[in-house]
Formats: sequence, structure tokens, C-alpha cells
Amino acid sequence: MEELKHIGIIMDGNGRWAKKRGLKRSFGHKEGSKTLKKLCLHLADVGVPYLSVFAFSTENFKRSQEEVDYLMDLFIEMFRKEFKVLDEKGVRVIFSGRKEPLRQDVLDSMAEITEKTKNNSKLVLNICLNYGGHSEIIDTTKKLCQQVLDGKIDIDHIDEETFEKNLYQELPPIDLLIRTSGEYRISNFMLWQMSYSEFYFTDTLFPDFNSEELDQIIEKYYQRDRKFGGVKG
Ligand code: IPE
Ligand code: IPE
Ligand code: MG
Repeated sequence: MEELKHIGIIMDGNGRWAKKRGLKRSFGHKEGSKTLKKLCLHLADVGVPYLSVFAFSTENFKRSQEEVDYLMDLFIEMFRKEFKVLDEKGVRVIFSGRKEPLRQDVLDSMAEITEKTKNNSKLVLNICLNYGGHSEIIDTTKKLCQQVLDGKIDIDHIDEETFEKNLYQELPPIDLLIRTSGEYRISNFMLWQMSYSEFYFTDTLFPDFNSEELDQIIEKYYQRDRKFGGVKG
């Protein structure tokens, strides 16, 4: 039985949740942010040490300016106010993604919560914001090329371990990937980290997702037979 260290969640379905209720998409995002908070508190109790969530993809900039602005304002509100309870619980918040073209006030709020929670050790919450799996691989490749050009590393020293150390964050591989809202795709989430993840897709829209369902999925994870290319039994 492979210990569950790192869960990834593609938090999808906020828009549909709102639409079903005749509300604007923003209401779904707001409700989704409450769900995220509850899941973090729960995982801190359960003792899963890492959670990575997809909050905003590099492709999400294709949405209307109104929706992008709402999401950015919501992120600031979450990091400055709503996450107080997570800090108290011992959650450490880190981020993965590109800074460009995020607004300065968003970047400031990200830096603040990172600094404020840096000594917490109950749960690492990695928020993928302006994140793309392709961008991460490209940015890591560039970092390594620069190190070779600067004479800091030899090209033959580039292996999986070095590559991993130069990703946006040093994290264990994702053991369990959950996507809500009934879509069966990855949408450019953590490609490198998901090479051997167990996948779980649920029809539940993210604002309706809760700790009980998460517990059921975790239980199912422990029933899976992870082989990593080998032969068992
Ligand atoms: C996920 O919910 C949140 C973000 C992508 C920011 P969506 O906004 O994609 O919700 P649907 O897929 O339109 O229902
Ligand atoms: C993936 O959801 C990104 C996030 C959850 C932040 P999307 O709703 O953007 O993905 P697609 O467009 O359905 O693939
Ligand atoms: Mg979606």
C-alpha cells in the first residue's frame, strides 16, 4: 500500500454550479473558495502532507476580463483574509506558476501569505495560479540551460532528480489526482508530477465537493494496486 503524500485537485465546475442556480459565474468561484478552505482544514486533520490545487491556468486568461478580474480580486481576498484560519491550523501556502502577467496587487498578496505561513508544517498547500504544465517544463528547461551556460552544472548532470529540483516547487509526485465536474482531462495541470498518479474523476461540481467525498476517494485510492511498471503479487 503506497502512502498518500500528495493529492492534486483540478477544482472544476464553479461556473456550472452557479449557472444551475441562475447565478453569475462569480458566485460559483466564491463558493468554490469556501470548499477549498474546508478541504484544507480536513486534510490537515487527516495528515496528508501535500495538496496541490489548480486555481487558475495560463489558458484561463482567455476568459472575459470581468471574470478574470473577479478571480484575481477573490484570490487577494482569500490570501489576505479568508486564509487566516488556514494559517492558524498550520497550513503552509506556496505557489506554482508564472508571475507574468499577474497584477502587482495579486503578486503582493501571494508573497504576503507565503511569508506569513512559511513556518507552518501541518499541510503544504501548493496553489497553481497562472500555472501551466507546459510552461513549468519550459521554465525548468531554461533554468537548467542557464546553469549549463554559467558553467554551474555539466550537461551530463541533467537527470530526473536535477530536473525535479528545478521545477517551480520541490514536491513529491502526485499520488492521487482528483478532477471534479465530470470532465475527463488534465487541462495542462502538473504534467511532470503526474506521471504515475492514480486518477479519480467525479461528477460533483467543485462547490458541492466535500470532505466526506474526499474521504471516500482516499479510501478507494488505498484499494488501488500501484505497480510503477513492476510486477506485484
Ligand atoms: C473552475 O471552474 C475554476 C477555474 C477554472 C478558475 P470553472 O470556472 O472552469 O467552471 P465551469 O467548468 O465553467 O463549470
Ligand atoms: C482547469 O479547468 C483549470 C482550473 C481548474 C483552474 P478549466 O475549466 O479551465 O479547463 P477546461 O477548459 O475545461 O479544459
Ligand atoms: Mg471549467
